Amino acid sequence: MCGIVGAIAQRPVAAILLEGLKRLEYRGYDSAGLAVLSTERGMHRLRTLGKVSKLAEAVAAEPMPGSIGIAHTRWATHGEPSTENAHPHLSGERCAIVHNGIIENHATLRAEQLAAGHTFTSQTDTEVVVHAVYDALAAGHGLTDAVRRTTARLDGAYALGVIDAEDPSQLIAARQGSPLVIGVGFQEHFIASDVFALLPVTNRFIFLEEGDLAELRLDGVTIWDRDGRVVERPVRESSVAADSAERGEYRHFMQKEIFEQPRAIADTLEGRLAAEHVLPEAFGPEAEAVLARVEAVTIVACGTSYHAGLVAKYWIEALADLPCRVEVASEYRYRKHVVPANALFVTISQSGETADSLAALRIAKDSGYAKTLAICNVPESSLVRESDLVLLTHAGPEIGVASTKAFTTQLVALLLLTVNLARTRGMDAAAEAHAVGLLRGLSSQLEEVLAIDPQIAALAERFVEKHHCLFLGRGEEYPIAMEGALKLKEISYIHAEAYPAGELKHGPLALIDEDMPVVAVAPNNALLEKLKSNLEEVRARGGQLFVFADTQVPMQEEPGITVIRLPETDDLIDPLVFTIPLQLLAYHVATLKGTDVDQPRNLAKSVTVE
Ligand code: G6P
Repeated sequence: MCGIVGAIAQRPVAAILLEGLKRLEYRGYDSAGLAVLSTERGMHRLRTLGKVSKLAEAVAAEPMPGSIGIAHTRWATHGEPSTENAHPHLSGERCAIVHNGIIENHATLRAEQLAAGHTFTSQTDTEVVVHAVYDALAAGHGLTDAVRRTTARLDGAYALGVIDAEDPSQLIAARQGSPLVIGVGFQEHFIASDVFALLPVTNRFIFLEEGDLAELRLDGVTIWDRDGRVVERPVRESSVAADSAERGEYRHFMQKEIFEQPRAIADTLEGRLAAEHVLPEAFGPEAEAVLARVEAVTIVACGTSYHAGLVAKYWIEALADLPCRVEVASEYRYRKHVVPANALFVTISQSGETADSLAALRIAKDSGYAKTLAICNVPESSLVRESDLVLLTHAGPEIGVASTKAFTTQLVALLLLTVNLARTRGMDAAAEAHAVGLLRGLSSQLEEVLAIDPQIAALAERFVEKHHCLFLGRGEEYPIAMEGALKLKEISYIHAEAYPAGELKHGPLALIDEDMPVVAVAPNNALLEKLKSNLEEVRARGGQLFVFADTQVPMQEEPGITVIRLPETDDLIDPLVFTIPLQLLAYHVATLKGTDVDQPRNLAKSVTVE
């Protein structure tokens, strides 16, 4: 989703801005631009449709001196992807802005501004913001005040960076509903929509709060809160290394992130397991008492994180004996709910900035939940800051739009939560020790699964020409089938959907023919015989079956059935083990098709607007 970078320094900033945009590419975008102020050229703007590398070529051809500037990668919401709609937007060649989010009252403001004589050059909701700032400047207000007056009139979500050609001593930032950080340097300051953009120039950050307005100068930063009071926000040091967002020897970030999973899981478990039990402190100091009182769990998330929640429902109801509901955040936030007594509200999010998940959390906080818990990969994110309890997944930066290591580390975090809840409700010590043993062995087990990569690469050739694919699973493998289907459709653009295998004859069986590959997730568990009957139904209709089965599953290759063997595992961790080959399958199909694996078309990594 859109990315912002801005800088005010005593050195040329164009290269810093371009590098920042490159580092935000993973968020997904369709066009890019920057505006730099200099005494030589005044306000100088360049915008291009497509990749940041094209913008860099344009800058190389038309150098941009100047030590203050703003830059943006745009992911179209209002108005098609085009150069005219790309940011920064200008008004009167005087002020320039970059914006993330959506201005909901843009139509009203646009009508007023048209009547007042402004000319619009884009179809974006953003352009009204720059004209409003311009009008306030023209009326004699300083830049900070002009932005304050403008934001007071905006409904919706925004993160803004603003510069004024007549006052190059300051860069203004504002945040409401979309994340924005300030990078603190020595006699130089920066803004960005996330810290990765700025890691080459600083590791010290101020995270703006909702409603904050900030004035960045060479010598300092002043921040006002939503009530207009000057506030001090803490400066935090980021431990993320500047090179952690680099691809190394791998062809794609997604591939790197798939192979990083054993390490990411080990990091997520670090410091959270004693010899035979899960440490309750993993959830924070007050967690044990809180979790002991929980009588119901509601989980809300989006995309892949939602799938992790669906797996957890099976775990929490089976092991902790607690009712657990799981819902996508975009649905949850717009309906009336019945909140169970003493219920824990859990959000799951890689980024911690997904607009719908954040909105759902805010609603839950006002609707009588006992406590909120965030399972999240970004320590400084809004979701983490606004939740009572936090369990961080230590997956490291995830760059590929299709989530992989974030998902499996979320599953690990949810297993820790399940075991903690189960213990407070009578899980015996032997069962807990068994679970802990499985968690400890998980990384090496996943290494074994990753070793079948060449086999999956060969298998992928049989999917390349297909247009549709069905994924089947039962029990907690059903959400894994959903995740497998999501991975395939996201990056290979093959239409894929998942069904609980028992639902086959209620509709999808009608689709089965020799052109419809059917992928089945088949661990050796209590539902295996049921699943096998469902698979026979597919076979009898000429469907091509691809069964992922562990070594204990008595199933042979026959015409129409390809069996991919996985190491023997325990029911509890099957969902993690069976996720890996489905990720690899999607990855290899996509690379064979030549799609943009890390930045699939139309998708964004961090969905910070509704
Ligand atoms: C986007 C991403 C997905 C992700 C989802 C939820 O759609 O492309 O990979 O699962 O958002 O994101 P979150 O950061 O909340 O987990």
